[in-house]
Amino acid sequence: MTDQPKSIVILTGAGISAESGIDTFRDAGGLWEKHQVEDVATPEGFARDPDLVLGFYDLRRAALGKVHPNEAHRALARLEREFPGELLLVTQNVDDLHERGGSDRVLHMHGELKSALCQSCGIRTPWDAAMSNRPPCPVCQAPTLRPDVVWFGEMPYQMERIYAALSQCDLFVSIGTSGAVYPAAGFVQDARAARAATLELNLEPSEGTHHFTEARHGPAGELVPQWVDEVLGG
Ligand code: OAD
Repeated sequence: MTDQPKSIVILTGAGISAESGIDTFRDAGGLWEKHQVEDVATPEGFARDPDLVLGFYDLRRAALGKVHPNEAHRALARLEREFPGELLLVTQNVDDLHERGGSDRVLHMHGELKSALCQSCGIRTPWDAAMSNRPPCPVCQAPTLRPDVVWFGEMPYQMERIYAALSQCDLFVSIGTSGAVYPAAGFVQDARAARAATLELNLEPSEGTHHFTEARHGPAGELVPQWVDEVLGG
């Protein structure tokens, strides 16, 4: 790995929030074992049964009140404060644990549970309450809010900014993600094309582990603080 990276892109996934008590998607007992992806995470599922989908995300949003950021979230916030170079933190997570762990600049490429997207006016609004009771959009008053979460078949947010950062970084770090969902799963190859070093920090080898120049396996709550200490020089 580069000894002193100048520009780092970090991608996080559900595994970084696992030790906080949020279910991952594809591990045993994960969300996609309990729910059908096509029912709760596609535009077609929402059109078929909006009550089911709004209720699913209402429960997940409410559950955020019972969990707390862990050492891995806090370590990345410390990196944001103390790293002197360029840093882009991209998360696939829709929880707010990076922000509550102290990170100020988080790019939520798959959207956020605590945000509403109005299907009438297209405006995104911070949202903490339920949506299944069809509240009016605070901007246009139409009762057409949906979770501001990117579903399968939809375009993740801010891809141009992410690709620009990947093309200029000298270190890409993937934390707690299975490498099963594109485009995020392909970031490691984009970073390698830019000659960046690539590091995987995950509980176990991900699907794309062989693409990384280095992989460390264990819980994020241990691996991430260790790695941040290394980058910041102890
Ligand atoms: P997954 O559930 O697919 O993968 C979670 C990864 O975290 C697995 O590789 C686990 O081994 C690892 N893991 C579990 N506990 C860990 C721990 N304590 N420390 C470190 N790693 C741990 O979740 P994602 O990769 O985030 O998209 O899933 C990607 C996308 O698929 C999600 O954003 C979501 C989902 O469908 C949409 O909903 C669009």
